[in-house]
Amino acid sequence: MLREGIKEIDESRQGEAITIDQAVGKNKNRKVYIESYGCQMNFADSEVVASILTKDGYSTTKELSEADLILLNTCSIRDKAEQTIRKRLSNFNTIKKNKPEMVIGVLGCMAERLKSKLIDEEKLVDLVVGPDAYRDLPNLVNEVDHGHKAVNVILSKEETYAEIEPIRMGGNGVTAFVSITRGCDNMCTFCVVPFTRGRERSRDPKSIVNEAKQLFEKGYREVTLLGQNVDSYLWYGGGLKKEFKNLSEKEQAESVSFAQLMEMVAQIDPLLRVRFSTSHPKDLTDDVINTIAKYDNICNYIHLPVQSGSNRILELMNRGYTKEWYKKRIDKIWEIIPNCSISSDIITGFCSETEEEHQETLDMMRYVRYQLGYMFKYSERPNTVAQRKFEDDIPEAIKQRRLEEIIALHRENAHFRNNEMVGKIFEVLIEGVSKKSDQELYGRTPQNAVAVFPKENHQVGTYINVLIESCTTGTLIGKVVNA
Ligand code: SAH
Ligand code: SF4
Ligand code: F3S
Repeated sequence: MLREGIKEIDESRQGEAITIDQAVGKNKNRKVYIESYGCQMNFADSEVVASILTKDGYSTTKELSEADLILLNTCSIRDKAEQTIRKRLSNFNTIKKNKPEMVIGVLGCMAERLKSKLIDEEKLVDLVVGPDAYRDLPNLVNEVDHGHKAVNVILSKEETYAEIEPIRMGGNGVTAFVSITRGCDNMCTFCVVPFTRGRERSRDPKSIVNEAKQLFEKGYREVTLLGQNVDSYLWYGGGLKKEFKNLSEKEQAESVSFAQLMEMVAQIDPLLRVRFSTSHPKDLTDDVINTIAKYDNICNYIHLPVQSGSNRILELMNRGYTKEWYKKRIDKIWEIIPNCSISSDIITGFCSETEEEHQETLDMMRYVRYQLGYMFKYSERPNTVAQRKFEDDIPEAIKQRRLEEIIALHRENAHFRNNEMVGKIFEVLIEGVSKKSDQELYGRTPQNAVAVFPKENHQVGTYINVLIESCTTGTLIGKVVNA
């Protein structure tokens, strides 16, 4: 199942290579191989990178053996994510021994975090490019061609790649990601993202609407608006994030909020589904909830990561809300959108978390009964506030046991939520052929539940009504009906 949220993409897509077939100019015989790890933002960025390199004459390949340039778009969110990349880089270095002219580059969050260390100390790569420096890639590769190692990890206050049309690769041709903000100003104490992605900035709404329109015209039927904290989207002419109250009168008059942006995208066509991720509980406004309710094509699904159910831990994490506030947001969502499904991220074993506090997280899960959940053991990240100020003092075995309890409860909840849908009819956007059988198709309900049903003559990219007849923890099973 595809994961939602600004989070890691489905395991099966981690490291997937992407291809396009277009070649012009001086690099026309050169091939680039790009692998992406981490969250949807990284997958979206790889499509921007492919676009920039295609304009410079490259074509892409899924075959490592054909590649002249290998790029790894990396993630630093947990230590394990970085270890995966290191292993991959040493594989590439083995290949390079027999093919010394091949260039190996690291993009994304690990590039930003480790900077030239990847070249100087670890000697793993030729090229290190941070998330705001992709326009410089052609020059940087050129430097490597001239025998130098190349690094650009400058973070920008403005870069949103607004006018670069991403090249869609490896997708299903039906659903696409559209970035609306970059960076994050929240400084949750456990999180590396503010260091690797820089300050928060919003992208010009015109370029967002244009991109979504073009996708619709090409046959896409769903866009997911992406940002680390989409609810704080605010366009006032460009530059770093500002609060609405700090804008001049003129800026306020011309500004576009997240609710307004969603509305603009929803109005492109009723057949274009709109999703968004990630919402931050402290910033999710009633305006946003009302806008979701107002448009049938804005999906009734909110990814609202709680992280912990304990007020003391939430405070240590600097999340900016209490468990009471979070529950009130949930109540408000259900008051305005009764069938809205909710998903979450949870970190277990954060610094000094007690057994009672762990129980409070389980209590929160019992309250919301999340449809989907992404659950992690706390992993200390260098230079974060938590690393500098708190002790990572929960033993691994306890983290593991708490995680298992959280996962077990989540499975019960997810099964409960899926069971609630049995006997009901949902509109499903068909995304592809089921992995288990070529006689079955799959798609998602507005609530983001995956439904599988007999193929018959139905077409990918169209909407159908599915009567849900049974379910597992992860999937709804049904048949197409005309109602
Ligand atoms: N911007 C999003 C999520 C970003 S990262 C948000 O605020 O919700 C995705 C998830 O990874 C986070 O929600 C968190 O649950 C998890 N995560 C982040 N840092 C982590 C760390 N140091 N250890 C374990 N999990 C972490
Ligand atoms: Fe990290 Fe918090 Fe920003 Fe999410 S909101 S990216 S968890 S700092
Ligand atoms: Fe995403 Fe990982 Fe960076 S989750 S923002 S790729 S640290």
